[in-house]
Amino acid sequence: MRIAHLASEVAPFSKTGGLADVAGSLPPALAGLGHEVTVAVPAHRTTLAESVPGTARGEVRALGYRAAVSELSHRGVRVVFLDCPALYVRPSLYSLADQDYPDNALRFAFFVRAALAAIARLGGADVVHAHDWQAALAPLLLRHDGQTRFAMPAARTVLTVHNLAYQGTFPPWALEACGIPRRLFTMELLEFYGAANLLKSGLVSADAITTVSPTYAREILSPEFGCGLEGVLAARSDAVTGILNGLDLDEWDPTRDAFLERLYGADDAAAGKRAARDALAAELGLAAGRRPLLGMVSRLAEQKGADLLAAALDEVVDAGFDVVVLGAGERRYEQALRAGQAAHPGRVAAAIRFDERLAHRIYAAADLFLMPSRYEPCGLGQMIAMRYGALPVVTRTGGLADTVTDAGKPDGTGFVLDAMTPAALMSALARARKLLAAPRRLQAMRARAMTRDFSWTASARAYAALYERLLAAPPRPLA
Ligand code: ADP
Ligand code: GLC
Repeated sequence: MRIAHLASEVAPFSKTGGLADVAGSLPPALAGLGHEVTVAVPAHRTTLAESVPGTARGEVRALGYRAAVSELSHRGVRVVFLDCPALYVRPSLYSLADQDYPDNALRFAFFVRAALAAIARLGGADVVHAHDWQAALAPLLLRHDGQTRFAMPAARTVLTVHNLAYQGTFPPWALEACGIPRRLFTMELLEFYGAANLLKSGLVSADAITTVSPTYAREILSPEFGCGLEGVLAARSDAVTGILNGLDLDEWDPTRDAFLERLYGADDAAAGKRAARDALAAELGLAAGRRPLLGMVSRLAEQKGADLLAAALDEVVDAGFDVVVLGAGERRYEQALRAGQAAHPGRVAAAIRFDERLAHRIYAAADLFLMPSRYEPCGLGQMIAMRYGALPVVTRTGGLADTVTDAGKPDGTGFVLDAMTPAALMSALARARKLLAAPRRLQAMRARAMTRDFSWTASARAYAALYERLLAAPPRPLA
């Protein structure tokens, strides 16, 4: 099959979170199954001086802008970059100082149009697979926009929801600059409580909807997790499935990680993690000692529960843990974590930035990895942590529930909180402390965590099977 992915960030070229990991590792896994795979992504840069990867392939025009198209063959996948400096040369991908860029609707509408035009020109696709609101106009346009449809009339469409809370909602007038005719601003398509909702337009238009874990696929049908779209999703519940994310095992592997001084596997994890911890302590100014280390690597958004850590920090330190947090995002969480570091010098390190290298070193150094999410579509952090022998401490939600087994079970790999409260966190940490003090049990649980299968093998096959089903079925009727 010829499969074209549209994603607003693709590792290793651009990244703010797990979407980039998935868009960078699912396509190569599909290519490994023998499919012809393309990934289109905006050529994000922070300055004009940075170069855009790949070989020039002409340009595409849309909405009064043009993008230079370049193409790079990467891990068996054709990566297509759309370079439009006016839209994609920015200090960060989506927002600055807690404010979304005011032209985000245009930035991503252009991305979708330019990507579809480039893909059509490079030979078309059997399946167009869009990720999140930034690409969600693709199914709408392929179904309802004559010109787009004409360029790839037979393409089937898939929309993957990586996070239902981010919907791309804009005032209706923003649609004009996106070249969306008024006739599509209806309750059945784009309209949502008076606003234009790009994610909704994709949910109603795509041939299939997937999300990134089976539990989240069920949760989003309820008002608690549906973010207002539960009704829209329920109407299409036959089309919704949950396919668990895999990890890029080349990127996340402590036996061959270029960011670590000492490599380790499941059998010498204790020694390897001690070395990583000593190196990290020296780097971040943590006091000497062999206290257990609690790590967190996260976007600092409400979803992720950094406020729970901030609220419990004094108690966590009193209980004898050192803490290291790497994160960037909303100011209020950044400030709370900086204050935590100032209050506990040598015991708490808060690195407020995005730092790929430091992330690897924290996964390796940490004994425990904290991910107390309010909701979690899948979560890669807890899987990466397990692979590095850092036992995850998580809430029981979404993909966390699907990937972490509590230490109370025979095949336990981590610690599951009963509630999202400081008391529940402290009680999980008390259980964890006992385990960390019992070397044989610790070694056994770490080995289990490190050898869990987080590969893409099964999930890439599940996506391929979905594409095959869509291509075998007649196109969805328009009305
Ligand atoms: P989400 O996509 O919701 O942010 P995931 O757990 O799926 O959460 O993926 C997060 C990814 O982003 C992981 O690869 C994690 O290591 C990485 N990450 C998050 N914050 C940072 C940061 N400040 N520096 C480096 N990597 C980060
Ligand atoms: C989103 C979700 C996260 C998921 C990632 C990749 O950012 O918040 O749970 O792992 O996408 O699918």
